[in-house]
Amino acid sequence: MGSLFYFYKMKKAIINFLIKLFTSVGKFAKKRLNALYELKYFIEFEDRKDDIYIVTYPKSGTTWMQMIIYLLIYKKEPDFDHIYNVSPWLSNEAFKRSSAKRVNELPSPRFFKSHDRYDKFVPGFKGKIIYVYRNVFDLTVSYFYHKKHYNDSKLELQQLIDESFNPSKEYNWFNYHEKWLINKNNHPIFYVSYENLKLDLEGAIKQLAQFLEIPLSDELLELVKKYASFEYMKANEQKFGEQPEEKHQMVYNQFIRKGEVGSGKEELTDEQRNFLTEKYKEIIEPLIK
Ligand code: A3P
Repeated sequence: MGSLFYFYKMKKAIINFLIKLFTSVGKFAKKRLNALYELKYFIEFEDRKDDIYIVTYPKSGTTWMQMIIYLLIYKKEPDFDHIYNVSPWLSNEAFKRSSAKRVNELPSPRFFKSHDRYDKFVPGFKGKIIYVYRNVFDLTVSYFYHKKHYNDSKLELQQLIDESFNPSKEYNWFNYHEKWLINKNNHPIFYVSYENLKLDLEGAIKQLAQFLEIPLSDELLELVKKYASFEYMKANEQKFGEQPEEKHQMVYNQFIRKGEVGSGKEELTDEQRNFLTEKYKEIIEPLIK
């Protein structure tokens, strides 16, 4: 009995080992397979000189900018079911293993959402970039609620800071933002902050129109202000962001959430604020003086 028990114990250990082994091999293979599908997508993708890339770290104001650009280009009340139909998120389509055929057939000028790192844009790529960035306190809190609602209802704010706002981590805001600010390859980039959009939307729209060489009448300016307003976008939330799937923990009503400047600070502890401030001073401030 004793030896039989030992035998089963051995077997259990071996089975556990094999489960672990196959899980990690499976994860490794899935990662590589995803990378191959991404490659395939971008090989199929045909870039154009008049493409516009709206690049941001998540929660910096991407969707708001997509809406502004949509209105500047289409000059009419939005009639799309979802903004991704007119302004695709390329890397996400690649990740979902879609074909680039649909995107290749979209009319010019196309405008894409991107959270890609600087190095993904090779020197001499075709198109223009609009880079939107946001105050790190508001960004952290906005990203926290997004992840909590969409990915992990048990997520703690500190955990998010450790994962996404720690310069030693792979996809963290500080290094992401640093590279985009340095712009070592001199890509044609229009920089605008979320705070600037809030403070002077009209001014930002005028500068954007100029950058994109789109004539801007008073009528068009009013149209952009009306439909890119927080009120309109919140009331039409189903047109934006990720749609609910079973894995999402909460009811889908948070993609267009608060839309405020400055309130993030209040949700962070002194220690968290100090950490973010210190890293900001160290990495970002020297680049903007
Ligand atoms: P909050 O979570 O602070 O409310 P992204 O599109 O990059 O995911 O950014 C989402 C953030 O932009 C959310 O911030 C969202 O509420 C805000 N936002 C979206 N549309 C907006 C608008 N028209 N005006 C102001 N903020 C807007």
